[in-house]
Amino acid sequence: MTDLKIMKEKIEAYKKQIQESVANTSEQLEDFRLRFISRKGVLTDLFDEFKTVPNDQKRFFGSELNVLKQLAQDKFKDLVASLEEGNTKEEAAIDVTLPSLTSKGTIHPLSQVKNRIIQIFERQGFSVKDGPEIEDDFHNFTALNFPENHPAREMQDTYFIEKNPDVLLRTHTSNVQIRLMEHGKPPFRSIMPGRVYRNEAISARAHCFFNQVEGLYVDRNVSFKDLKQTLYHFSRELFGKGTQIRFRPSFFPFTEPSAEIDISCFICGGDGCKICKNTGWVEIGGSGMVDPNVLESCGIDSKEYSGFAFGMGIERIAMLKYQIGDIRLFSENDLRFLQQF
Ligand code: PHE
Repeated sequence: MTDLKIMKEKIEAYKKQIQESVANTSEQLEDFRLRFISRKGVLTDLFDEFKTVPNDQKRFFGSELNVLKQLAQDKFKDLVASLEEGNTKEEAAIDVTLPSLTSKGTIHPLSQVKNRIIQIFERQGFSVKDGPEIEDDFHNFTALNFPENHPAREMQDTYFIEKNPDVLLRTHTSNVQIRLMEHGKPPFRSIMPGRVYRNEAISARAHCFFNQVEGLYVDRNVSFKDLKQTLYHFSRELFGKGTQIRFRPSFFPFTEPSAEIDISCFICGGDGCKICKNTGWVEIGGSGMVDPNVLESCGIDSKEYSGFAFGMGIERIAMLKYQIGDIRLFSENDLRFLQQF
């Protein structure tokens, strides 16, 4: 009798489980099928037990089991139907014509500044040239007149990939000057934007990679006044008509004479502020007349030709232009920063 009582309890429990079953996913549907429909499921066990039910109870339990089996099959059909309907409902819920809630993409501030720089120089007759970021010692240093023991060749500045012969990540875009001149004939009038690498501690003001734009103009009778006028025009276009330009004597192995390029502070107009540290001037890059040794190492007759070159940091210019206080923001991909441009 106890067995029969247990069997009755089981039938009631399964009935309840079947009625309460839901299938929101095909996995849940499959679970239901395995438990109540398949030949290895619980109902098959019940039908096996039924064989041991005494004859006088067979009628009652037989009908109970058949009702249960029918219930399971009906429920299964319902679950299949509602899952399919749910899927189509979900598809219908996605309205592909609705405007997106996420923001539209914008052009990265560095690309915006770079594109503007390119535009200004293209209008002065400069073309845009590209060169490798992985470079050999010759194009990054030797051809640029770096003496053998120059400190910039040492490990603290340069990321070396291989030693002897040296392969390195270029430390400046001046390598493209060399690549341009060694394979061509003057005149050359190009700018060369690109990424450079230096083994420096990362901080708000310095990064181990950043972008530069190099400029080179080589022809007969190119003089310092051409350099001055080109950069003067550039500064006024980029920073505003009232911008003044100033050259401070400096040193680069590949230019002689060399000069640091300052522009009058476009925030305070030269009166002194935080950006220009109260000097009225901000530095934007380096420049100079191409050293005759550099021309000669590229097979160009330095008695016939002369030229000027300049190099500027694109991050630095973008930081000045938009008053960005931290160089790391350019490479962090923080949407809160990028969406402002
Ligand atoms: N290559 C120099 C630098 O990275 C910049 C520069 C380029 C200076 C061309 C003068 C002429 O600092």
